[in-house]
Amino acid sequence: MPTSSAEPPVLDVRSLAAGYTTPVVQDINLDLRPGQVVAVVGPNGAGKTTLLKAIAGVVRIFTGQVRLRGVDVTGAPLEHLARLGVGYVPQLDDVFDSLRVRENLEMGGYLLSRRERATRMEQVLEVFPPLRERLNRYVETLSGGERKMTAIARVLMLNPPVLLLDEPTASLSTELTAAVLREQVRALADLGHAVLLVEQKAMAALEVADWAAIMVSGRVVVSAAARQVLETPRMREIFLGASAEEELASGS
Ligand SMILES: Nc1ncnc2c1ncn2[C@@H]1O[C@H](COP(=O)(O)OP(=O)(O)O)[C@@H](O)[C@H]1O
Ligand SMILES: [Mg+2]
Repeated sequence: MPTSSAEPPVLDVRSLAAGYTTPVVQDINLDLRPGQVVAVVGPNGAGKTTLLKAIAGVVRIFTGQVRLRGVDVTGAPLEHLARLGVGYVPQLDDVFDSLRVRENLEMGGYLLSRRERATRMEQVLEVFPPLRERLNRYVETLSGGERKMTAIARVLMLNPPVLLLDEPTASLSTELTAAVLREQVRALADLGHAVLLVEQKAMAALEVADWAAIMVSGRVVVSAAARQVLETPRMREIFLGASAEEELASGS
């Protein structure tokens, strides 16, 4: 789906400060439009997960706003956001290991009628064809990649216009990382979803992203077109530093 910056954001974050007993992320501003991947990258501990959790209503918000189609949903519980069309795939605990793939997908479609659920499962399996043969497998027997696919597929059951993905490639090899980001994450945006992608693998994420927000110590220090960051070695050096160089050296 073509995107244009004139299109209003489906999700926007304004001057957000959030965290635990004290704020961990501060002064966060983000716009997410349909068909876009916005990558939030930065070193371990930068506050990327906390930011997603703040949007998902699971950590404390100190100031600022989260809006969905212009409507204030700041601090709204995840259950409420799910009904409004936000799908959140956390970094951990994203799937039920002791259940079959099919059962995970059915649970993901809990708001649908039995009939809608069956139809939607077919559509989701078209997005993730390898899951079709694994529908009756227990998730604990799957590979890391298949498991993550199941986690994303579960959230896709409600066809959420907005997807929040926290390190979907965390357990994957360099080759699988590139494939998941290109063939799954980018593909979801191309289907019209708005994807907020948190990744520690910055270079790989920027390859599939439209926009990049680089976080350091709880703040967004660069907000720019992903291509611009990729094409400016100096920006990579300063803001992504050693992690980007390691990633490049490892061939990702
Ligand atoms: N439950 C928590 N309570 C207090 N501080 C936390 C908690 N979880 C994370 N933090 C702190 O928040 C900061 C950012 O962590 P996190 O959002 O997980 O970063 P990232 O996802 O970028 O690696 C870290 O300093 C971390 O120690
Ligand atoms: Mg994290």
